[in-house]
Amino acid sequence: MKILAIETSADETALAILDITGNANAPKIKILSEAVASQIALHAQYGGIFPMMAKRDHSRNIVPLFSGLLKKAKMFREISNNQPASPAGRFPISKEKQITKILDREQELLPQFLKEVSKIKIPKIDHIVVTSGPGLEPALWVGINFAQALGFAWGIPVTPINHMEGHILSILIQESKVMANSKLPITKQKIYKKDTREYKTPKIQFPTLALLVSGGHTELVLMKDWMKYKKIGQTRDDAAGEAFDKVARMLGLPYPGGPVISKLAEQFRNQLKIKNEKLKITLPRPMMYSGDFDFSFSGLKTAVLYLLREIKDRTDEITKEVAHEFENAVVDVLVHKALKAAEKYKVRTIIVGGGVASNTHLRSTLTAKSSALNIPVYFPTKGLSTDNAVMIGIAGYFQILNKKNPPLSRRINQVIRNKKIVAKGNLSL
Ligand code: KG4
Ligand code: ZN
Repeated sequence: MKILAIETSADETALAILDITGNANAPKIKILSEAVASQIALHAQYGGIFPMMAKRDHSRNIVPLFSGLLKKAKMFREISNNQPASPAGRFPISKEKQITKILDREQELLPQFLKEVSKIKIPKIDHIVVTSGPGLEPALWVGINFAQALGFAWGIPVTPINHMEGHILSILIQESKVMANSKLPITKQKIYKKDTREYKTPKIQFPTLALLVSGGHTELVLMKDWMKYKKIGQTRDDAAGEAFDKVARMLGLPYPGGPVISKLAEQFRNQLKIKNEKLKITLPRPMMYSGDFDFSFSGLKTAVLYLLREIKDRTDEITKEVAHEFENAVVDVLVHKALKAAEKYKVRTIIVGGGVASNTHLRSTLTAKSSALNIPVYFPTKGLSTDNAVMIGIAGYFQILNKKNPPLSRRINQVIRNKKIVAKGNLSL
């Protein structure tokens, strides 16, 4: 089944076309094409994501990104010799009217859609899937409205996908079976690629514990089976990634904070191995022994703030040591709680998903400690920890197999009628 996946929940406009077959226990996944436009540079000056700017950038970028995506998947054909039906584009007038209605809040997207998409011959895509939450509401709507308009224009069904479910299922792509195209990294730049590798998927044994650590969420989720989720703990204030971002800002480091703090911490860790020095800085491990599976990172952030106030002349060495101790504190708490939950619920697999899953220290610590307990742990492969559309495509396939969600158009109408926000914070939509 060929799936077009769309993700605009935060600061990446991400699209992917996947070809997936097989059942949930042995899916065969091929990435036909992937495109990501990162807004990191845009938001860096604010130290975080600015929702209305994110929306505008998604709105501007999504149509050209989509054309590129189709081209790389060799699915782009222009309709030949067709007279434009209106100055706006080649859709029949009644269709154009309806699309205009669907995209009435996406003023930059609409003219591009009418002009560019109306030129394209309908490609063989079976299903469109789109992130419908949780995320930044204005940003999410760009993806949802684009999916709706495209689904309507081309007569393709559209299914809403939970972003966090995407992060969980991102681990289904591990290293490739055939390394024919190993020069194609999945990076955060605007890239397109045709990659027909078939990915090896790990065998997941249930019950499984998912540790979700992103910029907006920190959750422990118990899975009795595919698609069966029970949240057993979550952060009471800041998410783990958010804490990395905020502490980076205090240290005068760029956004997003996770990768840069992690790099400095790693340098300090390596120096320690050689120097064997005594550590001067200690930070708390909040809620480590609270006896439940909740987290709290806001106190840790405040502890860093107070610490920095006391330090008069902060050298690069001290910055590295703060980064190192902060990273240790976050990782200690995450690993301790995840393993406690794993023991309590006798889980047979641990999955880690979300941007913070790319943290090297978290990876090595959790892998070492869970292997001592004989529990395999799976992290997303490089590039699939942070937001991407590939994971949304995989979650989409599982949803389609499961036929759990009603079609998007019905859901969206419900959402609008009930004046509810699409971006819900919990996993079950
Ligand atoms: O999943 P994601 O891309 O977006 C959300 O759904 O929120 O996660 C982004 C978060 C950011 O807060 C970023 O600082 C963090 O993931 N992050 C990291 C690392 N790489 C990204 N945190 C710690 N270590 C990293 N290497
Ligand atoms: Zn995410």
